[in-house]
This record gives sequence, structure tokens and C-alpha cells, in this order.
Amino acid sequence: MVREAIKDEYYDDALSLASSIDTQYIEKIRELKKKRKAIILAHNYQRPEIQDLADLVGDSLDLSRKAAATDAEVIVFCGVHFMAESAAILSPEKTVLLPVKEAGCQLAEMITVQELRKKKKENPEATVVCYVNSSAEVKAESDICCTSANGIGVVNSLKENRILFVPDEHLGRYLESKTKKEFIFWKGFCPTHYNLLPKDILRAKEEHPKAKVLVHPECRLSVIDLADEAFSTNGMLEYAKKSEAKEFIIGTELGIIHRLKKENPDKNFYPASENLICSSMKLITLKEVAESLEKMRYKIEIPEEVRKKAKKSLDRMLEV
Ligand code: 13P
Repeated sequence: MVREAIKDEYYDDALSLASSIDTQYIEKIRELKKKRKAIILAHNYQRPEIQDLADLVGDSLDLSRKAAATDAEVIVFCGVHFMAESAAILSPEKTVLLPVKEAGCQLAEMITVQELRKKKKENPEATVVCYVNSSAEVKAESDICCTSANGIGVVNSLKENRILFVPDEHLGRYLESKTKKEFIFWKGFCPTHYNLLPKDILRAKEEHPKAKVLVHPECRLSVIDLADEAFSTNGMLEYAKKSEAKEFIIGTELGIIHRLKKENPDKNFYPASENLICSSMKLITLKEVAESLEKMRYKIEIPEEVRKKAKKSLDRMLEV
């Protein structure tokens, strides 16, 4: 009951936010979008009103593909820094804006390029697979990137057997369990998913015994083991749509529940824990998007040498 109340309050809040001020921002954003020939991309974890406003809402893989393919001149990226950076790596001729410059990813910040170079020296025979939740410099120093949606495919596409996987240890352990490769891990983690514990899943299952449990592969293996499926955020959306089940326990950032509910009004979605909130993903509001388009800020700039090398790792992933 408490869980339900929190969930509804969360979304009622979002709806009540659609005040006249918000309507003004939405109109301003629409005008500026035309003027700047801009497209708005938003990650599935963004605030509901940002998702509703965006031209495309998706997971990391989906968004990087879209960023590479669009003919817009400006991309306003409503997500976190590494996502906007990936768009800038793939589309150097476009201006990529991140509306709030402090919107970083704690996981991506858990490895520096200097640390990666050192680890590579210690493991010269290993192929470096880097999760997209990483900086452009780290991507530039890696052989190939992957997202949570294509990690298994990327790892299986490699002829080499020994993988140095950075920076997310948990996604690495999940990929190791699904492939026949030998992994060397980096001790990085997503604090939001790391806080989800087996006891949270057990409690949610007790409250909703008929629900399917879907978790993100950034969770601990002990959590994934208790779930029915582990998917990227788009994977969860696809599964929920196709599944005959009517109830789902969701083990990822709560922002995705907006889209799940919108696309499946006849189904129920329960957060596996009320703590699944990434504060960085919530920093972007309508006001910031309007100001971003008006003042053309904050531009993502990457040194060309780094960008070219990072692009190779991303292109290699997109080919897979
Ligand atoms: P997805 O690619 O599954 O949307 O995940 C992005 C992310 O950063 C998860 O924390």
C-alpha cells in the first residue's frame, strides 16, 4: 500500500507540474526548436514532462543511433553527460547541448583514462570493452563500446577470449555469466542499481506474487538471479508490451515507469524499491531545456583527436 501511494504521488506530482508556467516553457521550447532546427532526445529515466516533450525517448543504444542518424542541426540531450558526449562523438557537425552541465553519471566517473592505461599495461593481451557509461577519453582508449542492450552481442562478436571490462563490474559479471569469455573487471558500479538488494526483490514479490520481475543488468548478480528477466530500459518496455502478464516489478530507475504506464494503461508496474532514483537524471526541467535552446548552452566540446578515437569504439559497437 505504501509503495502504491508513493508511486502515484510521484506521477501525480509530475502531472500537477503542468502549470501555466510549464505551458509557457513548452511553447517557448517548441518555437526555439524550430528556430534552431533542433531535436530533443531524452533518456527513459528523465522526468515525465521532459519525456513527453522529447522527439525521441529511449535507452542508450537507441539514443546513440538516433543521434547518428538525425539531420537536425542541434541536439538537445536530456540525459547525463556521457550520453550527450556520445551524440557529439557520432555527430561532430552538429551542436550537442546538455541543458544542465552538472548532470553527470557517477558510474562513468569511476574510471579515468590514466587508470585505464595502467590497467591495460598490466593486461596487454586483453581486449578492452567499455560500457557507454564512460567518458570520451575512456572510450578512445577502448577497443569497442557496448550498452546494456547489446553487451552480450558485442562480447560474442569478439574473436579474442580475454576481456577487460570497464567501468561497471556488475554489468561485466552479468555478461560473463551469459558468454563464454574470460573477464577482468573494474570496480565501478551504478549507485542507484547497487542500492537495490535481494531483500527488496523478495519483499516486492511477496507483495505482488503474480508480477514478473524485470531488472537492469547494472544490478548485482544476486538481484538478477531473483528476477525473471534482465533488460536494458528499452528491453523492459518491449517485454512489458508483448507479455501477457498484467503486473511487473521494475528494478531500475523510477523514471521509466512513466513510459511503461503510458504505453500499457491496462497493466500495473511496481517499483522494486522507492530508492531507485538517480538524482542526476532529474536535474533537467522544462526551464533548463528552454534556456538551453535560447542561450545555446551547454555545448559538448571534445578534442578532435579524442573524438576520432572514441568514434571508432562506438562505430564498432553500432556495426555489431
Ligand atoms: P539503458 O541503456 O538501459 O537505458 O541504461 C542506461 C543507464 O545509464 C542505466 O543506468
